[in-house]
Amino acid sequence: MNTKTTLSHQIPFSKPDIGEEEIAEVVAVLREGWLTTGPKVKQFESAFQEYLGYGQECIAVNSATAGLHLALEALGVGPGDEVITSPYTFTATAEVVRYLGAEVRFADILPDSLNLDPDQIEKGITKNTRVILPVHLGGRAAAMRDLQTIASAHGIQIVEDAAHALGTYYGGRKIGTLDSAATVFSFYATKCITTGEGGLIATADKRLADRCRVMRIHGIDRDAFSRYRVPGASWYYEIVAPGFKYNLTDIAAALGVVQLKRLDDMTRRRELLAHRYLKELQELPLCLPSSCGPEEQQSWHLFVVRVLPTARISRDKLIERLAEEGIQCSVHYIPLHLHPYWRDRYGLKPTDFPVSLEVYGQALSLPLYSAMTDDDQGKVIEALTRFLKS
Ligand SMILES: Cc1ncc(COP(=O)(O)O)c(C=O)c1O
Repeated sequence: MNTKTTLSHQIPFSKPDIGEEEIAEVVAVLREGWLTTGPKVKQFESAFQEYLGYGQECIAVNSATAGLHLALEALGVGPGDEVITSPYTFTATAEVVRYLGAEVRFADILPDSLNLDPDQIEKGITKNTRVILPVHLGGRAAAMRDLQTIASAHGIQIVEDAAHALGTYYGGRKIGTLDSAATVFSFYATKCITTGEGGLIATADKRLADRCRVMRIHGIDRDAFSRYRVPGASWYYEIVAPGFKYNLTDIAAALGVVQLKRLDDMTRRRELLAHRYLKELQELPLCLPSSCGPEEQQSWHLFVVRVLPTARISRDKLIERLAEEGIQCSVHYIPLHLHPYWRDRYGLKPTDFPVSLEVYGQALSLPLYSAMTDDDQGKVIEALTRFLKS
């Protein structure tokens, strides 16, 4: 059978979980007529604050990239400064540092969590280091206690890239409530909740929050809704800085309000699916995600396995064979130091970050999303077993 031409049912790598309630909420915003940043964004920010539960300031933006940029800008990161982050991430994590004219210093990862290795961070610290920027890869928390110890010993700030980590817990607390300068979430279409595109900065620092609020909307000291719709509003405004256009729309926030209500249920579903993978793939030549600490919980944004060298099929061939059967996988990540821009900017060699390099050669992200059916997951498990079992 030529599966390439007869496939009727595709299993995507990821799929947004959008229900009738989300659709109704978006339609209501369209009917009401205030489409840009307004009451829905405020409602979303308040709901997020309540979800985090520690009184954090929440600033919605149109992407996590924007949120990371704003958080670093508000901390005053600029030329001459250095930010330490992982090469095992999406380029957004690091590119925002370059937006500000500061330099990125990569530190390698730990092979089990795929998160920053605290020893490598220590080695990378210089007198110019201003920020450590950990990524909670796939929704598994970075070693935050170690990072906090290092940061406070050197007077360095932490900004968390929590693009994958909505629903993740560390030390019994939700990511977004630890003692970092700021934590940034993503609501991109594949993430734990989605607003199509979107992001949010959570911070306990009122000054940082105020700066982010102003800089997300052109450096204007009040947004359009406050100028036209609130009681006593005035047309007058002042520009206080050369800001950005990073505000979230009310249309997007309408999705976010409903998605956030469903977050715990969706995380539970991801968890169930992840545990089934862990149970049913354990006999295969795969290195499966390791379990995390007792006070931790993963969001399971990604399910990254490593195809061991003992397998009778290579990682790349396996991806091809699965695709022929309509099963879409992905690779997280091609480490940043292998990409031309980062390689050339810092004169990096592939072996400069040996753990990232090795993991990249074996990594395979399996389909995992809350709307995934048991049947579809069964097909993925069956295909993997057929291709990998010797
Ligand atoms: C680790 C990580 N950081 C940052 C981002 C940027 O998120 P956004 O697309 O919301 O800007 C992504 C997006 O995929 C990501 O995976």
